[in-house]
Parts: sequence; structure tokens; C-alpha cells
Amino acid sequence: MATVDVAFLPAAFREYPIDCALILGSGWGEVLEPEAVHAVVPYADLPAFGAASVVGHRSELLLMTLAGRRVLVFSGRRHYYEGCSLEQIIYPIRLIKALGIQTLLITNAAGGINASFRAGDLMVLTDHLNLTGINPLRGPHDAEWCTRFPDMTHVYDPELSQILLRHGGDTIRQGIYVFAPGPSYETPAEIRAYRILGADAVGMSTVPEAIMAHAGGIRVAALSCITNMAAGLHASTLVHEEVLAETESAKPRMAALLRAFVADCP
Ligand code: HPA
Repeated sequence: MATVDVAFLPAAFREYPIDCALILGSGWGEVLEPEAVHAVVPYADLPAFGAASVVGHRSELLLMTLAGRRVLVFSGRRHYYEGCSLEQIIYPIRLIKALGIQTLLITNAAGGINASFRAGDLMVLTDHLNLTGINPLRGPHDAEWCTRFPDMTHVYDPELSQILLRHGGDTIRQGIYVFAPGPSYETPAEIRAYRILGADAVGMSTVPEAIMAHAGGIRVAALSCITNMAAGLHASTLVHEEVLAETESAKPRMAALLRAFVADCP
């Protein structure tokens, strides 16, 4: 299945070319201030995807004008830890490709592993570690989508990443994201191991979508909001609601960076 049929979407999605797509993860759903919203489709109306089940995630596909560009926004995502299939998780990528969109920014919440990071930092992904053993390309080869063994040297497009770094100010971070399966947070021993392996931040998303999009020829950038220092690197235990609360102070920077990216992306 290389492409999904987009005929079921409201006509607005197909009328004019869409400049780029955003996938908004935990804490990112509320930050956009679009000039106009042209169409909203609840995920419940995307049967191959289904409603997100996680607090902090909306469940809507939006078509909007932001920074003068036409933008497709997935507000909320599906995660491996929810028990959904990889096909469900990467459904947004199939839709993005079917709509002819060539640029994608993926956002997430992540725990900081790099000791110089602080809660509220934003990190541009330079690379990832996928230690889960899962891969959305596993299975019969879909030659319309990609080659059998797609190259992963530059999953995160350097030119797109530069846009984020340029607009991120003095505090922007960059680093390697390790994909952990969740839903339990990591143990301090796992975090120490990830650090030895070179990870700067840990989260439970993004990597399946990034692999799928990059393999399919979509240019990808990704951005983490460091909501907490990872297990063993801070005094208290981790609670999802508290993790989300940490994003509050970062929201103006998150909003400004998304807007700047959309304005400047090719
Ligand atoms: N670990 C995994 N995922 C996360 C974390 C974390 O510490 N914080 C936010 N998402």
C-alpha cells in the first residue's frame, strides 16, 4: 500500500498544494496561532488512524494558514505503547505523501539525558537511536515507497534543521534522540546506558514516523521539548501530568519556532 486515497477528505485539502506538514506531540498541540483554520477532521473520521488516547494529545487533523503558508497539522499522534500497529502510527506519513507534501516537522516531548540540558529546553534532532527493534518498513517490500534497504545517514534533513537552529536563539539544543518503547518511563540504569551510547534525550515516539517519511522521500526535521531530566538525573519521580506542566514556560518559544520554520521551509 504505497498511497492512501485522499478523496474522502474535505475538498479544501485537495484544492491547492500544501506547503508543509507538522506532527504535534505531547504539549505541542495548543501552541499554534494560525491566521485561519480551513478544515478540521477528527481522527475518529480517519479509520486507519483512530483517536489518540493520551492526555496532552488532541485528536484532529487540521488544514490551516500559518505564517502565510498552507500547513497540514496532525494535532496528536498514535504511539507504539498504546498497542497500535505500526501501520496506524505511520498513517500520517502515508497521508502526507498522498497529498504531495514534501516537508515534515515532527515534534515530541522528551526526557533530557545530556547533563547540560534543562527542562524547558528545545532540541533539534540530529540523529536517533532505535533500540526497540521495531521498524515500520518491516514486511513485504513496497517498491513504490522506497528501496528495500533505505539509507538512514541523514534522516533529519540538515537544511531544515538549520532553519530551526537559526531561529532557536541562544538556548536551542541539538542532539541524538533515543526511541524507547514505553509506556513505563526508563530506569536510571537504562538512562545511564543510553548516555553511554550517545543519546542526548529519550522519548516514546517520532522514530517510526521519521524512518517512514525519510525512506519515502519526504524531507524531515524533528524537535523535542525537554520536559524533564530523565530518570535518575533529577530528584523526584516522573509523573506524566507534571511532565506536561513543564512545557508551559516553553510554549511561547515553541510557538515562535514552529511559525519561523513554517515561514522559511522550502
Ligand atoms: N522518558 C521518555 N519519554 C518522555 C520523557 C522521559 O523521561 N519525558 C517526556 N517524554
